[in-house]
Amino acid sequence: MTNPTLLILPGDGIGPEVMAEVRRIIDWFGAKRGLAFDVTEDLVGGAAYDVHGVPLSDETMAKAQEVDAVLLGAVGGPQYDTLDFSLKPERGLLRLRKEMDLFANLRPAQCFDALADFSSLKPEVVAGLDIMIVRELTSGVYFGEPRGIFEEGNERVGINTQRYTESEIDRVARAAFELAKKRAGKVCSMEKANVMESGILWREVVQKVHDESYPEVELSHMYADAGGMQLCRWPKQFDVIVTDNLFGDLLSDVAAMLTGSLGMLPSASLGAPMANGRPKALYEPVHGSAPDIAGQGKANPCACILSFAMALRYSFDQGDEATRLEKAVETVLADGVRTADLMQAEGGAPASTRQMGDAVLAALD
Ligand code: NAI
Ligand code: MG
Repeated sequence: MTNPTLLILPGDGIGPEVMAEVRRIIDWFGAKRGLAFDVTEDLVGGAAYDVHGVPLSDETMAKAQEVDAVLLGAVGGPQYDTLDFSLKPERGLLRLRKEMDLFANLRPAQCFDALADFSSLKPEVVAGLDIMIVRELTSGVYFGEPRGIFEEGNERVGINTQRYTESEIDRVARAAFELAKKRAGKVCSMEKANVMESGILWREVVQKVHDESYPEVELSHMYADAGGMQLCRWPKQFDVIVTDNLFGDLLSDVAAMLTGSLGMLPSASLGAPMANGRPKALYEPVHGSAPDIAGQGKANPCACILSFAMALRYSFDQGDEATRLEKAVETVLADGVRTADLMQAEGGAPASTRQMGDAVLAALD
């Protein structure tokens, strides 16, 4: 039996710092749970630009297409701000998403009880919260044609086009229903069918996929603006939310902040199944390269650690091991271990990135 393969792209800023902790956790699963991975590490973003003159080399792109899963830290930094658009670190990440055709972006919003009083909402509104937002990632208004700024009469007009085909809606709806089957069995689909034709089609196709293939899942539809309100009012009514690229961008950021810090938020981007049945997959924390704290050992590694937990669950069918890792993070938080981002202004000495990693490893043991 060959081991599953993992490509690690630490990237820039705090990326390598948080990824170093994940490497130790991957090693732990190999040593203690008999779950060994063949890990390769490579460059992305500014780190790749510094060496290769491009934010993602063709060789790295080819590797990403072959492995079972890619785990990415973060890209970007002020030293790259003046680069040509096509060479910017973010282009490396966008190329990965595009060429791997990662159409389903999974953003969990999960509130660890120990952090409930850290939310801007009342603790009882967020304690135990566990929602999954599935955002369509490769189509919609960020990609639709025509787009651009044009002359029209004696003024200019800026144009973007919301465009969705039935098959694009169908595949992301299926991803959402599959997830719901493994969770609380509910999907809420959000669009604006009241004012957008693409929303009417979205609603029809999601309903059809449900009726034909997932009748056992409970499906509801909501206008996306009402959905935003409901997320802030009573988020625990939701299990899986599926929505388009633009609304998903906004709603996933809203949902994320229900739970506290950027330093706690993982994500997964999934594509079509490969020959071995596993989906093409990229896992990454939601946060960026945090240049303001990079190189100081202050970064919270939990978002990246929890991204690896998602990889265990969605790429490697190791749901129990994923839960084991999530529980370890929960234990550490319950014990009061806090990196600086998880502390109120006057809180005592924060844990370093390494100390947080140590604590998670100790909890796993
Ligand atoms: P950011 O997420 O890097 O940082 C925002 C704030 O949150 C900062 O104050 C930072 O210190 C804090 N923060 C973020 N992650 C943290 C962690 N793990 N632990 C503790 N504190 C944390 O977003 P920002 O500042 O807007 O962007 C910085 C750079 O990152 C830019 O070059 C941007 O383009 C890039 N970026 C990259 C992303 C990616 O790689 N997926 C996503 C977002 C931004
Ligand atoms: Mg966003």
